[in-house]
This record gives sequence, structure tokens and C-alpha cells, in this order.
Amino acid sequence: MRSEFVVALSGKVEKRAPETVNKNIPTGEIEVLASSLEILNTAKTPPIEVADSTTEPDEKIRLKYRYIDLRKDKMRENLIFRHKIIKAMSDHMDKEGFLNIETPFLTKSTPEGARDFLVPSRVNPGKFYALPQSPQLFKQLCMVGGLEKYYQVVRCFRDEDLRADRQPEFTQLDIEMSFVTEKDVMDNIEKLLVYTVAELQKDIDLFRGKHIPNIDIPFKRLSWDEAMSRYGCDKPDTRFGLELMDVSDLLENSECSIFSKTISAGGIVKAVNAKGAAKFSRAELDKLEAYAKSLGAKGLAWMAVEGADRVRSPIAKFFKPEELRTLLERVEAGEGDVVFFGAGKADMVNHVLAAVRLELGKKLNLIKKDEFHFLWITDFPLFEYSDTEKRWVSRHHPFTAPHGNWDDIEERFADDPSLIKAQAYDLVLNGSELGGGSIRIHRMDIQRKIFKILGFSEEEAHRRFGFLLEALEYGAPPHGGIALGMDRLVMLFAGMDSIRDVIAFPKTQSALCPLTGAPDTVDAKQLKEIHIRAALD
Ligand code: AMO
Repeated sequence: MRSEFVVALSGKVEKRAPETVNKNIPTGEIEVLASSLEILNTAKTPPIEVADSTTEPDEKIRLKYRYIDLRKDKMRENLIFRHKIIKAMSDHMDKEGFLNIETPFLTKSTPEGARDFLVPSRVNPGKFYALPQSPQLFKQLCMVGGLEKYYQVVRCFRDEDLRADRQPEFTQLDIEMSFVTEKDVMDNIEKLLVYTVAELQKDIDLFRGKHIPNIDIPFKRLSWDEAMSRYGCDKPDTRFGLELMDVSDLLENSECSIFSKTISAGGIVKAVNAKGAAKFSRAELDKLEAYAKSLGAKGLAWMAVEGADRVRSPIAKFFKPEELRTLLERVEAGEGDVVFFGAGKADMVNHVLAAVRLELGKKLNLIKKDEFHFLWITDFPLFEYSDTEKRWVSRHHPFTAPHGNWDDIEERFADDPSLIKAQAYDLVLNGSELGGGSIRIHRMDIQRKIFKILGFSEEEAHRRFGFLLEALEYGAPPHGGIALGMDRLVMLFAGMDSIRDVIAFPKTQSALCPLTGAPDTVDAKQLKEIHIRAALD
């Protein structure tokens, strides 16, 4: 018999002799005195050592032989954990009176900011279905259909560049409710998470090694403006401080021209005080600067603080002692701290310093793995300017309701699109976007105005979303909802670094399935049936 053989064994179960008891394994107190043994199947030497919990083969191997990888404790525990979370959530939704309603996969494009996966129709030559990027429009149609509390654990498909926390197909807990405010939706999610965690706690023995969070509600709420100002991003990791501070007002007349020139050109200067970072070597500081540059910064000025008005810094010579004192006081820096500066256009500075802040948090060991900081980000801008498309686009999807008066939305847009806020909220956990939702536009005239503002012609709006506009004309109730990214949620609760570790059969970073070889070519005959001719050189 060799490892991974499948055997049937009959015998008598007996207690082990005291000197052979091993409490560390589940069967450590018994043994079976075998009377017969049958080999049901043999196994080749497996490419993955199942019993070895310390080393992991290359991920390509793990995914190619996923059925062996799944035998390992880590994957089995992760999948049991995932099952329990989804079961608890479904139970909760059921108890709260929500209906699980399935929506179509073969459908029309729903814009969520990614490319669609298209499916050619055999019976309708030249026509395509799109796999849903989310069930967004169908859940809204459920509300129009009077099914006022909908939920679904549902697969979504997005053709986008992959990262550790993104997959081309992923699972959402998708929710929609009629007659609700933003607060109602957020309260519901908080209750859902409290219930889910309480259920997980009941099985705590099953989940040794997992960090099941304590959930304190209500979660903190931060407006988008405040999040951008204090953290430079809309999904801040709030497990640690190191907040960004705008110091433009102190530096507009500075002799340090990289600062003063940036400010007179309409840019900003922000600082982050890395408490206790004076221990960083010059090489480490240079590495941080190179990182900032790789993100688009021109540089990353720094000052290592040696006293109330004394610093070690390549730009120290431009500062008089009283200027330094005021600056260091503003950023609350003292001896042993290093203050980093980002200068440039606000978007770039925020983008770079948000990433530098995270890097500093890691380097200074400020991020505690077993802490869970849930946070709502609210009051997003409804629109954002797309530099690539040279026009204003929806920040979320175009069905999101604006704050303020809806009827004069066109005038407000003409005035200043950047000032219009959305009734939208994102749920953030430890720096990851766990979910997002909004109150929707339930009036046809307003939805039509939004399409117009976004540059859709009447004809295009009708072609793409005519069915929605029509539905809104038949008594659509006010409604709103949210979707949680289940793979991300399970990953974070399970303390994993990749969502691939909580999905049974995931794709690689390049959207391949090493196990099946998908995506793959198909026979010419099959292509012909769906009226497709490959045009690859
Ligand atoms: P949104 O696009 O924010 O909202 O998606 C909701 C959540 O789904 C997760 N997610 C992903 N997870 C893994 N891989 C991906 N490629 C991926 N893309 C998104 C994220 C995200 O927060 N229809 C709206 C919801 C609504 O308004 O009700 C929607 O889909 O955790």
C-alpha cells in the first residue's frame, strides 16, 4: 500500500495502549485491528504531498492537480469555512424574510466597469448574450415586480485584469430591498455579519487558526471626501494611523521650489509622519522613493526628525528653523520620526501616499493580522472624469441615485459634476473593498436624464436599457441594495492572502484553468454552428 491508495478495511476498533495514544490527531486514541483489507484503487505517486502542511508546491501544480490539493487540510478547512459562512448568511436572509431568486446568466450587458464575457447565439445568428457582471438590473426588476426583499448567492463574470483579490468569475451575496434608505441597507448588512460571526463562533473548534472577527456595530462611517483627505484612498486600512495631512498652506512660499512651484501650479503637498521610522536605512528610504516613483510620483521627499526644529533631509537646507518647527508641529513629528512628502496633482499625491502609507504600516509592523476593522465609505461622487474617454462617467453604475434634488440634476451637472454626491456606500474591511451598493433611481424621467448626461443618445439608451426605462414607467417602488464579494470576505475571515485559496476551482492570474486547459480552441464545426469565424493571425 502506498500513499493515496483507496482501501476498505474491516476490523475491530479498540482503544490504543496508553503509551501509543496521540491526542494531536483525530484518531489518536483508537486503532483498528484489521481482519481484512481490500485495495479499492491504487494511486500514482502524487505531485502534491497531501500530509505535508508546511510546504506548498507551485500554484500551477496546485491548480493542475486541484483534486489532490483539495485533500490537504488547508483547502478542506477553507471550503468548510466558506460553506458555513454562506449557509449562515442564507439562513439569516431567509429569517429576515428575503427571497432567494435566481436571475439569468444568458443576458444583456450590465455595466459594472469591466468587459463582458460574450456568448454567441446559435439560433440567432450574429447575436450575443453577455454573462452578467452582476444581477443589478434583474434585482431592480424584481423590485418592480413587487418582490420587495431579494437575495441571491450568485456568480458574476467580469473580463478584467486579474489580481490576488479578483477572479473572472466570482461570487456575490446580492441583495435588493424596496422602500429603504441607505441606513436601512447598511444596518441590514451589519446585522447579517453579526449573525454570521455568531454562527461561526459555534463551530470555533472546526476553525482553529482562523481569525473569526468580533463585530462591533454600528461600523464606523467615513465620507468619501474624508477618506480621501485622511488616507488618500476610498478603501483605507484603518487598523493603523499614519494619516495623511495636507500641508500645502505651510509650503506655498517655501524656498523649496518642488513644493512652492507645485502649489502655485494648482497642486498640493501632503505629508505622512512615519512614527519611529528613523531606524530605516538610507537604502530603505531610497527603496520607498523608488516605489513612489513607480506609482507616478516625481519623488518622495523625506525628513528624519532629530529635534523640534532639526531634521536630516536632502531638502533640509531650504527650511529655516521656525519653518521646520511649524511644519513638524503640524504633522506631530518628534525625534525618531520620518516625515514623507508627496507633491503634485491631488489625485496623484493621494494615490502615491496611500500606497506609501500601507508600505510604511507593513514595514513598521503596525498591521495586526487578527484585527478586523469594518468601515462604511459613504457620499461617493456620482460621476468621475475619465481621462481615457475624455468625458464624465458614472463612478459606480448609472442606476445610482444622486443625493439632493433629483429634478434639477441636469442643471447641477452643468454647474459642476464633481460636486454631485451619490447615495452609495462601500463596505471596507482592513483595506479591502468587501462590498458596495446604493439607492437606485426609480423614476424613468430621472434615469433618462442620467443617461443623457452620460452622453448616451436617446437611441443608444433605448437600445441598451430600454427594458429598464420601460419597467420604471410601471410603478417602480423606491429601492436600493448592495452586493458583498463572498470570495474576498471568506479570504479575509480565513486569513488567506489570495481568493484562489477559498475557491475550489479558481483560474490563474492569467485567467487560465490549468486543470481543464480552459479556455481552449474549439472545432471548426462548432464555430460554424454559432456563426463565428476565428480571425487570429
Ligand atoms: P461591485 O461592482 O462593487 O457592485 O461588486 C460588489 C463586490 O464584489 C466583489 N468583486 C469581486 N470579487 C472578486 N473578483 C472580482 N473580479 C470582483 N469584482 C467585484 C467586491 C465588490 O465590492 N451591482 C453592484 C452592487 C449593488 O449596487 O448592489 C456591484 O456589483 O468585493
